[in-house]
This record gives sequence, C-alpha cells and structure tokens, in this order.
Amino acid sequence: MAQVPENRIQWLLSEIRRHDRLYYVLNRPEISDREYDRLFAELKSLEARHPHLVTPQSPTQRVAGEPLAGFATVRHAVAMLSIDNTYNAEELRAFDERVARGLGSRDYDYVVELKIDGVAVSLRYEDGILVRAATRGDGLTGDDVTANVRTIKSVPLELQDSRNIPDVVEVRGEIYMPKTTFAKLNEQKASAGEPLFANPRNATAGSLKLLDAKITATRNLAFFAYASGELSEPLADNHYQILQELKKLGLPVNPNIKKAKDIDEAIGICLGWSDKKTKLDYQIDGMVIKLNSFGQREILGATGRAPRWCISYKFAAEQAQTTVKSIDVQVGKTGILTPVANLAPVLLAGTTVKRASLHNFDEVRRLDVRQGDTVVIEKAGEIIPQVIEVKSKDNRPPDTGPVKPPTKCPACSGTVKKDQNGVYIRCRNPNCTAQLREKLKYFAGRGQMDIEHLGPALIDQLVETHLVENFADLYKLKKEDLLEFEGIADKSATNIIEAIEKSKHPPLWRLIAALGIFNIGGQTAQTFAKYFGTFEKVLAVNKEELKKIKKEEELKKKLLRKKYDKQGISKKEYYKQREDLRKSERLKDIGTEIIDSLCDYMAKPENKATMEELIELKVRPESPKSVPVSEKLAGKTVVVTGTLENFTRTQIEQAIKENGAKTSSSVSKKTDFVLAGKNPGSKLKKAKELGIEVIDESKFIKLVQNGLKFK
Ligand code: IVH
Repeated sequence: MAQVPENRIQWLLSEIRRHDRLYYVLNRPEISDREYDRLFAELKSLEARHPHLVTPQSPTQRVAGEPLAGFATVRHAVAMLSIDNTYNAEELRAFDERVARGLGSRDYDYVVELKIDGVAVSLRYEDGILVRAATRGDGLTGDDVTANVRTIKSVPLELQDSRNIPDVVEVRGEIYMPKTTFAKLNEQKASAGEPLFANPRNATAGSLKLLDAKITATRNLAFFAYASGELSEPLADNHYQILQELKKLGLPVNPNIKKAKDIDEAIGICLGWSDKKTKLDYQIDGMVIKLNSFGQREILGATGRAPRWCISYKFAAEQAQTTVKSIDVQVGKTGILTPVANLAPVLLAGTTVKRASLHNFDEVRRLDVRQGDTVVIEKAGEIIPQVIEVKSKDNRPPDTGPVKPPTKCPACSGTVKKDQNGVYIRCRNPNCTAQLREKLKYFAGRGQMDIEHLGPALIDQLVETHLVENFADLYKLKKEDLLEFEGIADKSATNIIEAIEKSKHPPLWRLIAALGIFNIGGQTAQTFAKYFGTFEKVLAVNKEELKKIKKEEELKKKLLRKKYDKQGISKKEYYKQREDLRKSERLKDIGTEIIDSLCDYMAKPENKATMEELIELKVRPESPKSVPVSEKLAGKTVVVTGTLENFTRTQIEQAIKENGAKTSSSVSKKTDFVLAGKNPGSKLKKAKELGIEVIDESKFIKLVQNGLKFK
C-alpha cells in the first residue's frame, strides 16, 4: 500500500539528512550519488505537489528564493577572537612557557588542529534549528550571511542527537572552498574574461558575500566546526570533548584533530603537516595548538585580540625575488617614520607586489637593505609583503652606503626623536601636516567615525588648503568650502557634508578609538568607554585615579592567587572567583603605559581644545548602554522562537531592544512573554508549562506600533 505523503516526506527527510551526515560529516557514504539524487528528486516532487508539507528545514529549502537586500549586522554573543601567530618551534616553546607560568604548573595537555584557510563564521542554533550565520567581522559584530550559509550542504539546518539539544548552541568554524572547486571556478572565470580570485580564501569570502544565495549554492563551499560560542548549557569541560559533542550533533569536525600531552608532541604534529598539507583538498595556512581544559583557559584569559591559551603555527610563506627601486619614508598618524621599499613589481601568492614596509630603521640596519638590492620578499600572514633577506650584498657597486635614519621629518622638516627603549623614530612637530593627514584619514575611516565620502584624496586637499587643521575643523566645513575643490560638484558636496553630520553620534568607544592615540585601539577604547561613560569624563581623566584603580585590581588578583596557593580554596572555587574578578574589573587589560598614553594626550592643551570644540560642535557620542528609542516594552524580557514572516532574527532582536525590552534565549520564570513564529520549538512548550504569555507576530507589531500596554 502506498504511504501517505506526510509519512513518505518524513521518511525522505530523515534519510536525506542521514546520508548528508554520512557523506559530509563522517566521510562514509552508504549510497551512490545517483541513489542520493533519486531520493532528493522524489522529495522535491512530493513537496511540489503538497506545498503545505514543506518545512524550512527541508534540504530542498537550502537555497533562498529571493536575493538578499544586503547584509544586516550581527552582534556576537561571545566575541570571536583572533589567534596569535608563531613561525617556528622556538616560538611555540616560548608560548608553552607562558602557559606553564600562567597556570603555575605543567599539568595540562593540548589539542592540535589544522588551520583551515577560509572564512570564520558563527552558526547559531536555537531549539536545534539554524537561525543565524554570521561572519567574524571585527570580532564583536559581523555580517548576517544566513541565507548564503544555508546553501552549504555540510552545515546542518537542524542539529541531531539522541539526547536533548541545548536551547542555544552557537558553533564557531571555518567555511572554505575545496582546492579543486577553486581551480574550476577560476578556469570558468578566465574563459569568461573575468578577474580571477587570488586564492581559495578570497573565493570563499567572495562567495559568502554574494547577494544572490543561488550563486553561492553553486560554489560548493564546505564547513568545519572548531569551537563552541554561546551555549545555554555546557556540553563539555574540555576542547577535545566538545569537538566530539559537536560531531554527535551532526556538525562536521575535521578528522585530523590530535591530542598532545606536551609541547614537544604538539610541535612534532605541526612539523609533520608542512609536507602532508598539499595532499588535502583544502588549503591550510598552518596549525592551531589549543590548551585542552576550559578551566585552565579561564585562568589564562585573553589579551584584547587573542586568547592566551591558543597559538597558531604558520607554515613558511611563499617567497619571491625582486629589486629595490627606492626607499621612502612615510609619516604615520602618531608621527612614526616608517621606511618603505618601492619594488620592481613581482607576483607573489596571487597578487602583484610593488611596495613593502621595512617597519623601522633598526630593521633597515639589520637587513642592510639599499637601493638597487635584490631582495627576497614574502607575505606575512599571506597578506602583507615583507622584505626577508638581501641577496646582493657581495655584488653592490662600491659607492653605495647604508640607508641612514632620518635626522628630520621628510614631510615637515621638524625635529625627530627615537622612542625611549623603543625602535621607532618620530616626528616631534605637533603641526606636521603629514601626521595630520594620516590622523584625519584614520579618524574618518571605517571602524572609527566611518565618514562616508571623506576619502584620502579629499583629506589631502583639506589639509593642503589649511581648511582643516584638527578633527573639529571637519565639523565646521560648509558646502561652499568643498565646491572650491576640483572635481567636487554640488551633489557630492552635499553628500560629504551630510556624511560628516551623520557621524556626530558614534558609540563613545569609536570616538575614543578615532583619536588615534598611541596604544589605544578598538578594544582598549571599549574598556575606557565603559569606564568613563561620557566623552566629558574622558576629557577630565585623572591619572592618579586610574592608576590607583589599576593597582587595586592587580592586588585583588594577587591576593586570590595567594589564597589558592596556600590551599585555602579549591581549584574550582579559584577558577570561579578569578572569573568573577575578571568580569568586575573596570580597567580590564589596560596597563600603565596605556593609562599614560591617554592621560598625556588629554593633558596637551591643543588636544584638549579640539575635544572641547568637538563637544561645542555637537559631536555627542552615545554612552555605552544604548538608549531605547521607545518605552513601549520597557523592562520586559522577551524570548523569540520559530520563523517570523516580517523580521529576520537580527531585526526582531533590534526591534525588541529599541522598544526598551531585552531578549533572552531561554524561557524561565523571568520571561515576560514569548513571541512565537512558524515552527516554534521547545521554548513554546516550556512557556506553556510555566504559564507564560505567548504572542504572535501580528500582536507584537500592534504592541510596538500602538503602544498597547502589555498586560
Ligand atoms: S580557533 C580564539 N581553530 O584562524 C580562537 N581557528 O587566525 C578561535 N582558523 O579567525 C579560533 N582553523 O578563522 C581556530 N582549527 C581552527 C582554525 C581556526 C582556521 C581561523 C579562524 C580564526 C583565524 C585566526
């Protein structure tokens, strides 16, 4: 007897899912591609005849029908950090020494993994269903690439497990393009006369950022999970175990994962892969060594950029030879004079290289690089070209001498000085126009004030004509001023002025970062923004006060460590208290040098005057806690479940926040109401059990539009 369509569809769904997992995750297919295609075709035709039986989790729904309108921004629940790099065994041993010192013991083990050269993403599963995929972005916020990621067959749309799946499972991993696909794609591009992708990583990034998911689907991208992000319940207490748990949930984990009992074993594994790597059908640019225990990871913590419990070992980069045409000196935004080699153009790892930074004059002396030299270059981290070695020292013409460090600024002829105990030579002239240009470019750049249309060429003109002599002058510009410049018509002048106006209310940390103060990048600026709260308080910074707080925070950590060493508390309790302390720290990861840097900057009368002018010109950054635009849901806690018709996850969360409420990922007694869409998960059940109000999307819209009081 023929099965009813519902049952047949159910069976096909579970069979296809099983075969997807066998093929993509376990690498152990049980049926031929042809048989698989037959199952898929049957499902498709059944769904076509019974559209009401199609679920968003069906494998036929991987490709979104509608092109994306752009990418929404997603804030990561847990920051996506980077990894510090090493290039040889000695540096790996130094890392191990730091770990041993930090833990005060050698009782730990490592996990060694391949460093997949693709694009990092965070996948969020709620009630076992993939609700969002986001790129790493700047580590705190990334792009919502859910529609594109849904087309990747090794990314399960739904988690599977015999046991209960936590309400929220966030998975971190790498999306990559197999080498063979990359080669084919470039062949197609070449025959179509289109520009080629430089490497599989660029091809992956390009494919993920396509606005039409249908094209992404043809790019054969794949995924490996390598860590967890937010979890509503812990899945394991060490890394190796968590990878096994992720595998059980149906996520593909790279099979070449190895435990290492100490750094020597880890180094052996890393070195072994530098020859074997060519055999893989995906590109790896190194290896990653991770401390296994989560408890021990917590003790080590992270710097602003990268965790202290993890390190990458990068394979030797591709190299090329070329000649040095000349050596220039560039002036940076903090006055640092950087020597740069102009090179005869040469192809290196997919791009043409014409310039390479020589970093500083100590490096120039160490390399003894001179004009006309033949040099070996390579790309650091496969991106930034560097001069590694001079090849021609014995054949130089007799009249060439070493490059001399500058005795005055090449841009303003101002006096220069070498940093105390440092390698940098700086221009000391506070009015150096080259510095001002770089400062303004940084200030206006993406990630800082993000002033659209205010590009480097315009900044050069603004500085040359003395229209802009500090940050505040930007906000005094008028349309008529800009119309004086060649190539700026009425429309673009309006756009520029509007963009400058629009930049007046950035989050406070962005404004702090935009000032380009030595040693103060985005992460540090965020800590300061939280500490000060308002721009006025940043201006009134008090060195003694900051140093006192820093000292107190350090002392607390020392006392806790002492308590632990004297066996006053258990290891578990120590971890917990240490983490609590870390969370409560107001000057997290800020050292005395950074404090000096900020205070010295604010103490300079010309800087202070500019800052005060910015305030007068109504540059009003937002304080760290975003202020809701409406009070309609003030104080409420809302849980969202299922698929909504009018909102993506990011949009609904934003809408909830903007109306004064906060979202939570799991239902508890503290939940005020649950907003349920199509195919709600276990959260709905839990809400009913706890007697919590459930509303649908149209009711939500009414609530926020009309401001109906929620009962
Ligand atoms: S762990 C805090 N594991 O490398 C550490 N990253 O240079 C989080 N990557 O952004 C990352 N393979 O895109 C980790 N097995 C692996 C990796 C891996 C590739 C990438 C990832 C990350 C970058 C850091």
